Amino acid sequence: MTTVTHAAAPVRILRFDRVQRAAHWANAILFGILMVTALFLYFGSIAGFVVQRHLAAQIHLWAGLSLPVPLLVSMLGPWGARMRRDVRRINLWTRDEIRWLRTLGRTPLVADKFNPGQKLNAIFIGTTIVVMLATGSVMQWFGHFPVSWRTGATFVHDVVAFTVFVVVFGHIAFAVTHRDSLRSIFKGWVTESWAARHAAGWLKEREASPSGPEP
Ligand code: HEM
Repeated sequence: MTTVTHAAAPVRILRFDRVQRAAHWANAILFGILMVTALFLYFGSIAGFVVQRHLAAQIHLWAGLSLPVPLLVSMLGPWGARMRRDVRRINLWTRDEIRWLRTLGRTPLVADKFNPGQKLNAIFIGTTIVVMLATGSVMQWFGHFPVSWRTGATFVHDVVAFTVFVVVFGHIAFAVTHRDSLRSIFKGWVTESWAARHAAGWLKEREASPSGPEP
């Protein structure tokens, strides 16, 4: 008689709910549109071949003005509890996390739900939205501002745009090489064993929660 043993299915833990995933992808699409149209605006000569500059500028402007919407909608209202909790996490830094970042990950760390690199990326994106919205508005409604503001706003907009390209490509490179993290932003869950390896602090916190682990 042969005995068949089934390996136990890995335990799944919810990392991002539907609201968070929708906000992430809406934000990513808007960033994508902004980056593509930014290329047309910056390299005016390519624009002429593919799309009229005026059209590129209008798409860029409307995508830019919509940029804060997904994050705001995902945070405000009863559906945003998880998002708000994660925003609080991202703003909370321990000494160990700062040391880990300073040593480029060479010191030991019992990682939270997000490691310091992921926290820094989220803070960068949040700050970028505010800075680009402010500088882009000065560039659009330039008649209301002195010339020095217009020049400064264009300079800051261009410099931040360059860093956006670097950070977004870095983010995508990390995402495609970390399949479990990538799956969690599509499907929402990670396995318990992944959490034990990469987010042990979060796992411990879930287990110690008096109301039991989050669903
Ligand atoms: C990921 C975010 C963004 C990137 C990478 C980006 C990048 C750029 C770049 C490279 C230019 C060309 C500047 C030049 O010609 O020197 C530009 C122009 C502009 N951007 Fe953005 N931008 C972003 C977000 C925004 C936002 C949020 C707004 C909101 C108002 C905005 C409004 C504008 C305007 C009005 C222009 C001038 C368009 C024209 O020349 O007619 N941008 N942007």
